[in-house]
Amino acid sequence: MIYFDNAATSWPKPAAVKEAVLACLEHGVGNPGRAGHRLAIAAGRVVLDAREAVAELLGVADPSRIVFTKNATEALNLAIYGLLRPHDHVITSGVEHNSVMRPLRMLEDQGLELTVVRNAPDGSLDPEDVRRSLRSSTRLLVTAHASNVLGTLLPIGELAALARQANVPYLVDIAQTAGTVPIDAQGLGLDLVAFTGHKGLFGPTGTGGLYVREGVELEPLLRGGTGSYSELERQPDFLPDRFESGTLNVLGLAGLAAGVRHVLAAGVCRVRHHEVRLIGRFLDGLRSIGGAHVQGPADPARQVGIISFTIDGLSPSDIGFLLDHEFGIMSRVGLHCAPAAHRTTGTYPVGTVRFSFGLFNTEAEVDLALRALEKIASASGS
Ligand code: ALA
Repeated sequence: MIYFDNAATSWPKPAAVKEAVLACLEHGVGNPGRAGHRLAIAAGRVVLDAREAVAELLGVADPSRIVFTKNATEALNLAIYGLLRPHDHVITSGVEHNSVMRPLRMLEDQGLELTVVRNAPDGSLDPEDVRRSLRSSTRLLVTAHASNVLGTLLPIGELAALARQANVPYLVDIAQTAGTVPIDAQGLGLDLVAFTGHKGLFGPTGTGGLYVREGVELEPLLRGGTGSYSELERQPDFLPDRFESGTLNVLGLAGLAAGVRHVLAAGVCRVRHHEVRLIGRFLDGLRSIGGAHVQGPADPARQVGIISFTIDGLSPSDIGFLLDHEFGIMSRVGLHCAPAAHRTTGTYPVGTVRFSFGLFNTEAEVDLALRALEKIASASGS
């Protein structure tokens, strides 16, 4: 079996992730911050360890600015609904996932003004187009770090600089880059950074979070018990408690901490180097398959390990079915919850086949997949 669906969720996970989750189940963890007994304290340590690991990975000095959520979608919703008011103006890109587009479209229905800047068909975004869209009422700039469809990297450093100049908060969705591309959130001056735990960070599903720069004020998405200031019927105003109501996913966070530590030990630059090699090998091979077309930059330096492609004469779902059933290769086909990106690249509404590579994929797997695609393309008469 070859797993090329790491952009949906990574597999396999490092052994340490399983061991960390099992250790919690075997030795017990209580509810973090809810009691003073040893198991509650053990749970608190697990959560703090995960917070510290993520903070280290993202170059954040104060781990309390890392807020845990159940996924990147919840983190993006927290940032968007926590910051925006009716009639604010927001700028976003033309490759965003529905986790950004749907909250924004819902607010647009209530009076928010939304500018979707046009990306080039390969997904690239010119910061000057963003600059030209700025207004005095602009309250937020939100973009992905990399498209989950095309893999295209967006220029978050330049976007952060122009957002800072304009005094507009910048929210970055790093669902497809956390753990695979070096990110210095504090060094770049990013205001809000939404991450998922179960892709490049190798945590279990149900983990994710939001980095909130000091000075950025948000309304919570949820209010409730935090274990702190139980005498108050008002939500605490300090982080992370302000945004972490209800019992946290302690088992998931134990796995996330182990996953992040695995990435830190491997080195994000080395992970990136490995993915760049796989992307280059796959792109080179695909060029010689008649009828195959790549969407996106087709340039390892300008993209993450996500490659969308089509083959003349076959629908993406047919290709995905054959890859799975004839060759044991897992891909994701269709619109990838990101219709905007498919409109931008011209593959809406049919979509594409998407391969997404991870740390545990090998060049031999890429070669096997290329041979499978060659067979599929020649059988279709392309
Ligand atoms: N957003 C994830 C993907 O791109 C699930 O597949």
